[in-house]
Amino acid sequence: MKFKRVTDLLRTEAADQTVEVRGWVRTRRGNKQIAFIAVNDGSVIHSIQVVAEMAKFPEELIKRVTTGACIRATGKLVASQGSGQAVEIQAETIEILGDADESYPLQKKGHTLEFLREIAHLRPRTNTFGAVFRLRHHMAFAIHQYFNDRGFYYLHSPIITGSDAEGAGEMFQVTTLDLQHLPKLPDGSINFKEDFFGKSTNLTVSGQLEGELAATALGNIYTFGPTFRAENSNTPRHLAEFWMIEPEMAFYDIRDNQDLAEDFLKYLVRYALEHGRDDIEFLAKTYDDQLIPRLQMVVDHPFERLTYTTAIEILKNSGKKFEFPVNWGTDLQKEHENFLVDHFKRPVILTDYPKDIKAFYMKVNEDGKTVRAMDILFPWIGEIIGGSQREERLEVLQNRMREMHVPESELWWYLDTRKFGTCVHAGFGLGFERLMLFVTGMTNIRDVIPFPRTPKNAEF
Ligand code: 4AD
Ligand code: MG
Repeated sequence: MKFKRVTDLLRTEAADQTVEVRGWVRTRRGNKQIAFIAVNDGSVIHSIQVVAEMAKFPEELIKRVTTGACIRATGKLVASQGSGQAVEIQAETIEILGDADESYPLQKKGHTLEFLREIAHLRPRTNTFGAVFRLRHHMAFAIHQYFNDRGFYYLHSPIITGSDAEGAGEMFQVTTLDLQHLPKLPDGSINFKEDFFGKSTNLTVSGQLEGELAATALGNIYTFGPTFRAENSNTPRHLAEFWMIEPEMAFYDIRDNQDLAEDFLKYLVRYALEHGRDDIEFLAKTYDDQLIPRLQMVVDHPFERLTYTTAIEILKNSGKKFEFPVNWGTDLQKEHENFLVDHFKRPVILTDYPKDIKAFYMKVNEDGKTVRAMDILFPWIGEIIGGSQREERLEVLQNRMREMHVPESELWWYLDTRKFGTCVHAGFGLGFERLMLFVTGMTNIRDVIPFPRTPKNAEF
């Protein structure tokens, strides 16, 4: 007999047919006559109830049906007597596939998210992380669906790179050199010619520059892969290893870029509400009753679009005392971003930032002071997307690189796109875990990725 997943069993009409379930025991309760066993197999937030008449089974066997044990049960699928589920299984056979002794750390009582982080290897077995990781899957799938439906090609940008795409220098080095005995040049510096790639290499912080190479050939592309940043920021919104989605579009200007980003985010949130409804409802009920209204708000309202300069005026005129002073030319802090989102009561797209606080590749505006940057700010999250129209003019780009001390010799291949058939183009990067924070309502980014990497933390 083929076993069925719990999600299918729960949707099966009770017609007295014999079924088999395999999964992990969440709870067992009951009395001398009868045991109620909740079995979950991860296919859905809900467990299926297996009802065992004690007289039918050896007592020793039922004792081994403990929280965390893996079991196989067969029996008739019948309409449930109890409330809370439509169907249940009247057990005919029960087999223990794997015992779990009393040291199993996930007992019935609720555990804190902090504690669960310490047992990240087992936390997928909780309702919360089952819900989060199923939603993570739905979102990853929806991203590919969205782009595929619109004729974008999925580009695999490299993970090991010789360049620093953001020019921010917060990179993890990749080397096979013996750190105890580094080969040196006469001037004392390290001789990277002896390293694996014959040059100094790092883990990528972004696939954008390679994405631009492909966009100026294939038209519209997107990347979706892991990125790495060695910034020492221990915040609930930063990871050292996170996933990023970076679409790049030939012939898109900054307006087209905003339209796509807004449509994309709305699609993803709508998709989550449709395909992950049970899990979202569980998370809303357990952690945050504002979760669904907040998701709905993103779907229902057009995003507010304004320039950085206007945003600075609004912040200055607000009369609010911010911890960090508001000045044209400095980067916005979390408190400023939150104020703007609260002010408009919807997501905000900020554009045209001062060029000095943005990356070298952004297109310079006619004013010579601002660039065609675009950040999308979400409630509580702050920046969820960062992007821009790209500087497609070779000389302007070279000037910007000189100004910002980005060595041309390392990026000669990038500059070639501007030498050979350059064109207007634009793109953006969506932080996948920031999206997951928003969709799940979790408040710490460590709780939306299976195995978080943060400063001083790479267990599991
Ligand atoms: O704004 P960022 O640095 O932009 C880029 O990397 C561009 N190359 C994107 C592009 O135009 N193709 O990062 C993009 C997004 C941020 O808006 C944020 O959502 C996320 O990536 N992000 C992080 N997420 C988790 N942990 C971190 N340390 C992150 N740093 C950025
Ligand atoms: Mg950014």
